[in-house]
Amino acid sequence: MSLFSDAARPVERIQLAPGALLLRGFADAQAAELLREVEALSKVSPFRHLETPGGFTMSVAMTNCGAVGWVSDRSGYRYQALDPLTGQAWPPMPAAFLALAQAAAAEAGFPAFTPDVALVNRYAPGASLSSHRDGDERNHEHPIVSVSLGLPASFFFGGLERSDPVTSYRLDSGDVVVWGGPARLAYHGVRKLKDGEHTLTGRTRINLTFRKAL
Ligand code: SIN
Ligand code: FE2
Repeated sequence: MSLFSDAARPVERIQLAPGALLLRGFADAQAAELLREVEALSKVSPFRHLETPGGFTMSVAMTNCGAVGWVSDRSGYRYQALDPLTGQAWPPMPAAFLALAQAAAAEAGFPAFTPDVALVNRYAPGASLSSHRDGDERNHEHPIVSVSLGLPASFFFGGLERSDPVTSYRLDSGDVVVWGGPARLAYHGVRKLKDGEHTLTGRTRINLTFRKAL
């Protein structure tokens, strides 16, 4: 039994693809604490709407914590050690983030995961993330761990080609998705967030994606 699951309620595991697992409610017990940490780190490195290389402004607001952060601008996508907005290092990854990410990865069969970045996404109603794969990390042996907090989202997950069929899953607060191995470079995205009200976040969804970038 995982440290992070309610002893009375085993975590429901749903396989999205070989190497990709949805752990329903895995982060329920930590949700409030994780959100307090998001609040604190966003005071150091504020949420911002990044520009894509093609000149669009992303509808999802982002920030990071850890040794590096993911950024996008007219010159491309990359990880960098300094926050371009503040000129300072990103805030360190909170211990509670690391513990949860490692426990979820282990639960999904990736016991040696040591993320060096958590990308923090903030969705307001109407925000979405178009189909993409997380490929800017130095090597792809390590999984991605994605934690959903607040309003539910419709997350779609497909295959290694953009044209592969996708399946949509509702992600509720506390749900964790882990993808690695043969699914590491699968295409995925988030459909337009529906408006609503969540007790922990109001009209907002927060997503944490843990990556080993370096
Ligand atoms: C991502 O693909 O990086 C974020 C996914 C999500 O918000 O659930
Ligand atoms: Fe992604």
